[in-house]
This record gives sequence, structure tokens and C-alpha cells, in this order.
Amino acid sequence: TRKIAVLTSGGDAAGMNAAVRAVAKMGLYRGCEVFIVREGWAGLVAGNVNAAPADVRPPPQRAGKYHGNQDVEGEKFAATFGEGELLQEGAGEGLKGRHILKVGWDDVRGWMDIGGTLIGTARCAEFREKEGRETAAFNLISLGIDALVVIGGDGSLTGADRLRGEWPSLLDDLEKSKRISAEQRSKHAHLTITGIVGSIDNDMAMTDITIGAPTALHRISEAVDSIGSTASSHSRAFVVEVMGRHCGWLAVMAGLACGADYIFIPERPPKSEDWESEMCNGLKSHREHGKRKTIVIVAEGALDRQLKPIKPAYVADILTKRLQLDTRVTTLGHVQRGGKPCAYDRLLATLQGVEAVEAVLDATPQTPSYMIGLKENKVKRVSLMDAVKATAGVGDAIEKKDFDQALQLRDPEFLE
Ligand code: F6P
Repeated sequence: TRKIAVLTSGGDAAGMNAAVRAVAKMGLYRGCEVFIVREGWAGLVAGNVNAAPADVRPPPQRAGKYHGNQDVEGEKFAATFGEGELLQEGAGEGLKGRHILKVGWDDVRGWMDIGGTLIGTARCAEFREKEGRETAAFNLISLGIDALVVIGGDGSLTGADRLRGEWPSLLDDLEKSKRISAEQRSKHAHLTITGIVGSIDNDMAMTDITIGAPTALHRISEAVDSIGSTASSHSRAFVVEVMGRHCGWLAVMAGLACGADYIFIPERPPKSEDWESEMCNGLKSHREHGKRKTIVIVAEGALDRQLKPIKPAYVADILTKRLQLDTRVTTLGHVQRGGKPCAYDRLLATLQGVEAVEAVLDATPQTPSYMIGLKENKVKRVSLMDAVKATAGVGDAIEKKDFDQALQLRDPEFLE
């Protein structure tokens, strides 16, 4: 029986719960034991301080009841906690100090349409140190867990890739310090790691879309539509800052979806050094064509050709001074990240969660660690290591001002 742990890490994204639910249900359906890790990598490092491993799972309460399949061994489908208990604030006394919990079928019931991540996420300084990763490895091994599904963005999957690369040396150290036995070492010689990309930024290479990005795009589009009606009423200009970290996907897509007048992104800085004049000429001509509103979208990581950040307040100042437009700045902030996942994110998360479990079950010591991506509308396994490398390459290319290369790595079809 495979023992699969699933965690969410990095910034939350709508659809993460649907992904955890899919991994849990598919894992149980395929006869695995499934554990959730609360609070991301931090939870993996913290482990179950107040609970002995044997304690982790209280006796099943409703064996088999909800699955409706009497032939199936009840144990596999039992809920570990009272229905919905994990949803409660603080999750009850019984969960104190426990970060790695075995779950049953009903524990993830109703998770599909809930925003954020119910199992928590945290930035974890300890996991960045080898000692922290060693403790995380120890916690996994002591619970007999042999597969890890990580749902997160670029940084989180880079962490996953690091754990993958380091696993043998972590085992060496753990055995040397007698924290694990030789027998445990050989039993856990391979940890199967699979990544699912959850991030509103859509900044991961080798996949067309990441879980949470479509919902964030909806959220932004609705906000910009609302801004549009007040802008038109007053004949104003608005500079709207959107998230995306070093990636311009949200800005470009929202700009197209809302008919923005001008868009600034990190990967393709304005062609002209004098971008201020270039922008003003464009916006002036839109006004001359009768537009009563001006919408400029600025990705939070937007850069000029000298890699100097382009900030919304500066853009607004230019519009006011050079075009005499009554200009306001709106920073959309975390409203873009929260809230219910749209239908597409639920489907993406579900299909990718299912595929992640299949990838775990197909894994052999020879197969690489996979990231579950989406290419041309098909759920695909790609090499986690390659995806992490290509994503890092985007940042390097931008730093070298090789903007075409940055776009090429981000999305080979984008340039066409
Ligand atoms: O990566 C997701 C994201 O929302 C980015 O778009 C943004 O730059 C960042 O996280 C904000 O992080 P925090 O929530 O820690 O402020």
C-alpha cells in the first residue's frame, strides 16, 4: 500500500482544496493511505510533536458508510475526523500539535468550491536549511509515508525538487545520526514526489495554466469592469495594479479581456526608452477616437528596458501631467487571490489531482519526479526538474535583458 502525503505551499490559490480533495479521494479509491500535511513545508518539519505516530489516526467512525460500496474494505473509506472537523477554526483540541494527519473519504467532503487552502500554507525558513529538510524527511519516514504530492507555485515546487535531489544524502545523515534504522533506510530509499501547480500567477514553465490563475483572472476582470463604469462616468483614467510577481500573464489576459488601453509586464518591457511618450501618444489617440475612459494595467513586476520597476503611481503622474487626465490608482491586492474557485479551476484541480495519484502509482525508482501540467488541453506529466529549471531560466533571461528568451521559456507559442 502506498502512503501518500499531500501539502499545499506558497501563496494560496483558488482550487487548491479541490486538488487536495482529488488526491485524497483518488488515493483512497486506489487503495492508498492518504495523509494531509497542515501548514505546508512548515507542517512537514514540525511533524506531530504531541502525538505518537500510532496516535495519528483515531478509530474510524463511519467505516464504509458514505462510499456505498460494501465490497470495499471499510477502513479505506472511513473518515478520520468528524465530518467537516478539519474545516473548523483551530480544528479542535484533537489536532493540536499534529501536522500530518491520515484522512478518510469524508474528511475532504465539500472542499471543491472553497477558496484558499483549508490545510494551510506557510512560508518556512527551516525548510530552506538542510537541517529542516532532514527533519521533514524523518517525519515522513517515521509515518511510513513514501510519496509526497506538493501543490504550490514556482517556489514550492523548487523546494520539492530540492528534496528530491537531496533525498539520498538526507537518508545518509539520518542513518548516521541513528534517527532511522538501516531497514527504514532501505524501505524509503525512494520518495516519490509529484508536483501540482497551484498559483494565481501562471508563472510555471512547461504548463499552459496553473490552478488559481483562471479564478484570479475572473476576479480582476470583474474589478476592472467595475472600475470602467465609474471611469467612463467621470471621463477619468485608472492605473490598475495586478498581481503576478515576475509574470505578466494576469496583466496581459486581464488587459485583453477588459479592453485595456495599455499594459505593462515584466517579460516584454516597452520597446522605446521613452515609453512615457509612446504610452501617452497611444492613449491620446484612443481619447481622440471618442473613448471616455483610459485603463492602464500594470503588472506588479513590470519593468522598463533598463529593468527599472514601472510603478503605478509614476504612470498615473505621467497621465495627469502630460495628458491632463483626472487619474486614480487602484491596487487590487489580495482580492485577486481569495474567494471561490471558478468551474475551470475546480476541473483542472480535480483532473490533475487524479493524475498525480496515477503518477505516484506508476512510479518506479527509475522514473523522474513529475509535475502535472496541462498542454493543449491535455493533462500531462512533465519532468519536475526540467520545469523548475526552465522557470528559473525566465528570471535569468530577464536579468540579462534577453526578453525574447524569457517569453520563449515561459511559453514557446507566446511570441507568435
Ligand atoms: O504568488 C502569488 C502572489 O499572490 C503574487 O502574485 C504576489 O506577488 C504574492 O503572492 C503576494 O504574496 P503575499 O501574500 O505574501 O503578500
